[in-house]
Order: sequence, then structure tokens, then C-alpha cells
Amino acid sequence: MTSLLETPAPAAADGLTLRRGAARVLLANWTGTSTVPSRGLYPHQWSWDSAFIAIGLRHLSVRRAQRELESLVGAQWADGRLPHIVFNPAVPLDAYFPSPDFWRSSSAGATTGAPAGTETSGIVQPPVHALSAWLVHSADPEASRRRGFLPRLYGRLAAWHDYLAGPRDLGSGGLAAVVHPWEAGMDNSPCWDGPLQRVEPSVPSSYRRADLDHGQPAERPTDLDYGRYVRLAGDYRDRFYADSGEKHAFAVEDPCFNALLIVSEHALAQIATATGADPARHERRAAQLTDALVARLWSPAEGMFLCRDLVGDELIPERSIAGLVPLIVPGLPRDLVDALLGTAAGTGFRLGEVPMAPSYDFTGNAFDGSRYWRGPAWFNTNWLLERGLREHGQTREADRLRTSMLTAAGACDFAEYVDPLTSQALGTRDFAWTAALTLDLLAAAQSSEVTGRTTGPTNGVRT
Ligand code: SER
Repeated sequence: MTSLLETPAPAAADGLTLRRGAARVLLANWTGTSTVPSRGLYPHQWSWDSAFIAIGLRHLSVRRAQRELESLVGAQWADGRLPHIVFNPAVPLDAYFPSPDFWRSSSAGATTGAPAGTETSGIVQPPVHALSAWLVHSADPEASRRRGFLPRLYGRLAAWHDYLAGPRDLGSGGLAAVVHPWEAGMDNSPCWDGPLQRVEPSVPSSYRRADLDHGQPAERPTDLDYGRYVRLAGDYRDRFYADSGEKHAFAVEDPCFNALLIVSEHALAQIATATGADPARHERRAAQLTDALVARLWSPAEGMFLCRDLVGDELIPERSIAGLVPLIVPGLPRDLVDALLGTAAGTGFRLGEVPMAPSYDFTGNAFDGSRYWRGPAWFNTNWLLERGLREHGQTREADRLRTSMLTAAGACDFAEYVDPLTSQALGTRDFAWTAALTLDLLAAAQSSEVTGRTTGPTNGVRT
């Protein structure tokens, strides 16, 4: 195995080619109001994709980056939830499944507060949005102020976090829970294998998997998993997307989802200050969430965070990248940070040795280096690890990971995910968040060359 110390940094010309390639993907995937993750496989607007995309778009067009987030929050439900998909009515129904006529948000979600004029899904995705909004603002604070960007977003982002910390605290332990694997963003992670055993799959003849029109079956979730996703989504819809008073067949506290909520809560404190509001409640909630994350999801034996299954009220014994993402959380106890760094560099994730960290433990029984979230390396989770390393002063490791990600992104045509050992492209190509986060890493590399500013704790919201 080649050590990353031997991985050459992309030369300046390569940086320019990479920037042009990434910009080409973002321009091609732009619809006029938002960016599709991929023209074929994901032809609508996705929630956490848009948040990551805006973080890269800000380096091309601050105005477009603002628009990306504004169009997403424009589809917010009255209960505060930001839907995981905002459907484009111009796209044919059979281009993606589950389509708007499956979710039926404007009718089935009406009592819960779904918008009447826009069709959306009824579930959510990880809360990267406030962090993204702060980063977009920071790219050009003057342009942001001129358009009143933060004042228009602040109330909606605060309502989004209130929804997650309120109705979604299903375990009453101070963390947000997800009620569908798609909500965690890591759809077929082995973490869900146990909890999904309880779910009776929908019969395959009741729907058609449009994803297989665009992806290799060996790189996508299995039919059995898909049947369970459809069952859970349909049952939630049939209960009118209500959270309280319902027994969820699937309810999990996920460390990546909650770490992103914490970092976004810190960002919301910055946004509150910038808009003249009181940041104290956001700082307080960030601290409470951090305590709850450690109390409920830390596993001293594994040296990382695990998911908690709320139905059985027990930690799920599977080690996924979600358990390392809390490295981005500022102010974690030092012994936990040291343990996380040790686990990241150990045999399970081999950070610093392989090009990018896998989505699931190399040594885990369920490891599959090609299949979606069961092993392949993803750019968004590695971008988060890169920030986490920097947050905790691991500049050399962060620089190494950044260089390695840039090399992989250029070589794989901005693939959706890659083989964690070889960086061979997997999933769809010209994937928007891969391109966007490449632009962000390139900009940071250039600015650290100019300013020498590479590290240091920043309350999790380093720009
Ligand atoms: N990621 C899911 C899909 O593959 C849903 O968001 O369609």
C-alpha cells in the first residue's frame, strides 16, 4: 500500500483542470433554482446534497449558492421539517422512485404542515444547512447583507432545529432520531441491518426501482432493503407523517446526524449574532446536544460513536463512518478525540494509509467495497473528517487527506463514491457534491498557501 505521504499534491495546472471540471459538473446540474445531485439517478433537489453543494457553489457564484439554500427552505413544512426531496414538477413521474404520487405530501402531509403548492417527500436528511448558510454568507458578507440572506434564513433554520430537537427527540434523551434509513443519508449502512429485520418488505410488484436504470445493481442497495425502505416510507405517509404518539418500526439515534446538528447549532449562534438576535439559546442547545451525544452514543470499548436503536434501546454493534464524524464537534473531551483519532487510523478505517476512509469498517462482517454505504468511500464524509482533523489540530493528517481527496476526485470523474482502496469510480458520475466539495478543498488549499492559516479550533464553523 502506498502511503499518502508519497501521494503527490496536484500541480497548479492540475488544480486548474480540476476546478474547471468541478465547475462544469455544477453548471450542468444547475436547474435555474437549485442543483440536481445527478442528471440521471437523482433528478430532483435533495436536502443534504443541496447543503453540501452550496458550500462549493459559493466559490463559483455566491448568488447561486444562496439560491440553492433558499429554494430548499422554501419547501419547509409548517412543523419545521425540511423535506429530503423537493420535486421538480417538470420531471416525468417515472424518472425517480418514490415519486411525488407515492409521497403525496400536499394531501397526506397537509395536517402536518406540508406546503400546498410544492410536492416533497415527507422524511428529512442530516441538518448541514445552517453550517452551509454560514459558509455561504462568509464567502461574501457584503453581498449577503445586501440581499438580507441571513435574516431571511435565520427563522426557518431555527424552526428546523426546533423540529429535530422537539418532536424528533423520540428517545427523550436529548438527541434527534431518524425514522427511516434514508433520513440518516447512509441508506444501506450495515448499522440498519438489525433494526430493519423487524420491517416486513413491500412486495416488489407494487413498485418499480428507477435507480437501477442508472446504476449497477452490485453498487446499489439490494431489492430486500428497497422493499423495507418502501414499507417504512408508506407506513409513515399513511400515518400522515406524524411523529408523536406513534410507534415507529425504525427509530435510531445516529451520531453523524446529531454531530451535524451540533455544528449547525454553533453556526446558528453565529447567524443569530450577525442578524442581531440572541445566540445564547443556540450555544446552550449545542452544549446540551454534545453532552447527550457522549452520554448516549459513545462506546469506550469501540473507541468511537455507535448508533442507538430506540426500539430495543441498545447500541448497534456496527462500526460505520457515522461514528467518526463527531470529530467535527468542537469541545469534545480530549480523551474521546484521542480515541477517535486512534480508531480512524486503526485497521477498521486506515485513515492516512488508504486514499479516503471507507463508509464501513474494513474488518466488519458486512464490508462490501462496492455497494453504496457498505464500504465505498464518499466525499462528503471525508470532507467532514478533514474538517474534524483540522478542528483538533491534526493539520498534517488533514492536509494529507485533502490532497488525497483532490487526487481521487480528478481521477474518478467526480463519482458518487469510490472503492476505498483504489479510488476506482463507483455509482453515478458527475455527482454534484463531489464536484462542490472538490471546489471547497481547492479553495482552502489555495488560501492556506497564501495565508499559512491551516488549523485551530473554530467552534466548528471554520469558513
Ligand atoms: N438516497 C436515496 C435514493 O437512493 C433516497 O434519498 O434514492
